[in-house]
This record gives sequence, C-alpha cells and structure tokens, in this order.
Amino acid sequence: MLKKGQKWYKEGEVAKKYEDSRFTEGGIILDKEEKETLLSLVEPEGKDILDVATGTGRFAELLSREGGHLTGIDASREMLVQSEVESVQGDALKLPFKDNCFDISISMRFLHLLEPEDIDPFIQEVQRVTKDKFIFETLHPLSLRLLYQWALPQDSSLYSNSLLKEKFKGLDGIKKVRSHENFLIPYGIYQILPEDIAESISQIDERVVEGREWLASTIYWELSFR
Ligand SMILES: C[S@@+](CC[C@H](N)C(=O)[O-])C[C@H]1O[C@@H](n2cnc3c(N)ncnc32)[C@H](O)[C@@H]1O
Repeated sequence: MLKKGQKWYKEGEVAKKYEDSRFTEGGIILDKEEKETLLSLVEPEGKDILDVATGTGRFAELLSREGGHLTGIDASREMLVQSEVESVQGDALKLPFKDNCFDISISMRFLHLLEPEDIDPFIQEVQRVTKDKFIFETLHPLSLRLLYQWALPQDSSLYSNSLLKEKFKGLDGIKKVRSHENFLIPYGIYQILPEDIAESISQIDERVVEGREWLASTIYWELSFR
C-alpha cells in the first residue's frame, strides 16, 4: 500500500500544478530563499549528488547548473516527468544505488511526508549511499501552519524539536545549519499573496523570529559522515 505523501503526488493534476501552485506570486520568495539556503550549504562543483524526493527537480536542476553531477529519485513518475535532471522512480526507503556512490545527498520538503518510524531507516539508507554529507529540511509545528495543517490532503506530519532531538540523538555529526522563520506566514499561505506583500511579511517574520530561533518553523540539518 502506498504511504501518505506518495499517493498525493502521484495524482496527475497535483503533480502538474506542483510548481505553479507553490512557487508563483508570493511563493517565489520561498523558492528563492530555499535555493539560496541550499547553495550556502552545498558546493556542487564536480560532486556526485543525489536529490531524494526530487519532485519536479527544482533543486536538482539548480545544483546541476552550478556544476554538480545530479541524480534524482522520486516515487512519483508524474512529478519526475517535469524534471530536466536524470532521475529514477523509486522509494526513498530502498534506494536503488550502490554503497557510497554519491558525495552528497539532499532532501528538501520531504521528511514531513515520512511516518516517524520511517525516519531512522530513511537516514540509514541515505548514509549507506553517501560519502560526505546529507542536507535535509524539516518543518516543525510551532507555526501558524497548525491552523490548517489538519486540512492538508497530503497528510503530512510536523515534527517537533523534541521528537527530532530524540530521533537524532544517536547520530554523530548531525547539526542544525540554518533556519527559516515562516512563523507568521507558513509555506501554504505565501502562494496566495502577491509577491510584494509576501516579501514585506517575510521581513516582519524575520524580525519576529530574530533571537528566538525556536520559533522558526523550517530547519535545515547537515548530517556529516566523515
Ligand atoms: C513536497 S514534494 C518535494 C519535491 C522537491 N524536493 C521540492 O522541494 O520541490 C515531496 C515529494 O516527495 C515524493 N515522495 C513521497 N514519498 C516518497 C518516497 N517514499 N520515496 C520517494 N519519493 C517520495 C513525492 O512524490 C513528492 O515529489
């Protein structure tokens, strides 16, 4: 049986509208922020990089343009057909790759689609295929996303800092490397705002969260394997 998050993104219409419904209007700000953050954490030049749950290839294409040798994997063929990067259809929990065949792995906007019991096996699987480091993003519940989280059709989970701390406690080499506020205006609201208003609210959000990092709802992690 397909797990949550897999089924939703296999719907043709959902996949087709993925980028238009998220990264136009105010969503452009999020796309820009995420890409800048990723580039500040990964030096792609000459590296073999795996993008797990690559979707339409937003990040794989970016890293490829910056000189990385990219491979994507995603469960949804409907998402993958939109990617310009060489990718395979498959499950993040059973990566069809040999041990240590990538320098770096990344996974953006994905962990919240995993069940809590799948987080450990997923990280072990990424560790098996990756030599240097794994960069990934988590969303935690302390944001106004709580107001509509229950209604989201893809049935995602927001993982609290304490749950993640518990999950990651056996992992040497893991650290938080960035956070994004998105406290006042969670991901889902940006796309319905005009870009200039979203930009202003994002700046207010930044001020609200400044010095109170625990409010930031999007966390970037680096797990180093060396
Ligand atoms: C929110 S999208 C993120 C796509 C891309 N990383 C981005 O940030 O634009 C989540 C993606 O996870 C994929 N996905 C869900 N469960 C998966 C699994 N078990 N293995 C591989 N991909 C999966 C979905 O098909 C979807 O493309």
